[in-house]
Amino acid sequence: MKIAVGSDHAGFQLKEKIKSYLIKKGYDVIDVGTDCSEVSVDYPLFAHKAALLVSKQEVRFGILCCGTGEGIMMAANKIKGIRCGVGYSPEVSKLTREHNDANMIAFGARFMNENDVFSSIDLFLETPFLGGRHQKRVDEIECFKDE
Ligand code: RB5
Repeated sequence: MKIAVGSDHAGFQLKEKIKSYLIKKGYDVIDVGTDCSEVSVDYPLFAHKAALLVSKQEVRFGILCCGTGEGIMMAANKIKGIRCGVGYSPEVSKLTREHNDANMIAFGARFMNENDVFSSIDLFLETPFLGGRHQKRVDEIECFKDE
């Protein structure tokens, strides 16, 4: 399975650890950057690069890191077809697959415990979407037009 990872400077160290973790587990990882923690960069650029790989189905899932997980999640969700949640606990990370059919997940390097992040990633990647009543709600997200 192919997975895109991306971060800003604040999420860089966590993104690198996630990348190693995924590679050890046998996933095929595409890293869209950033490449260091010293240079301040804008998280939307990396969110959009990873999200486009997901939306074009070049990868199955995307994993993003910034300081809080919030900004990079918001930027990813601007790309059509992206459903990105903040994985603020392992249980929620599982639920965002089961209920929301999330195809991306974001983590906040400055606020989250690394062990929880790795547990969240395992659950996120291994949990199927439940469909049923949740499918209708996901469809409602996708077909909304404000004009
Ligand atoms: C960078 O300082 C920080 O604003 C960013 O990583 C993120 O937390 C934004 O949502």
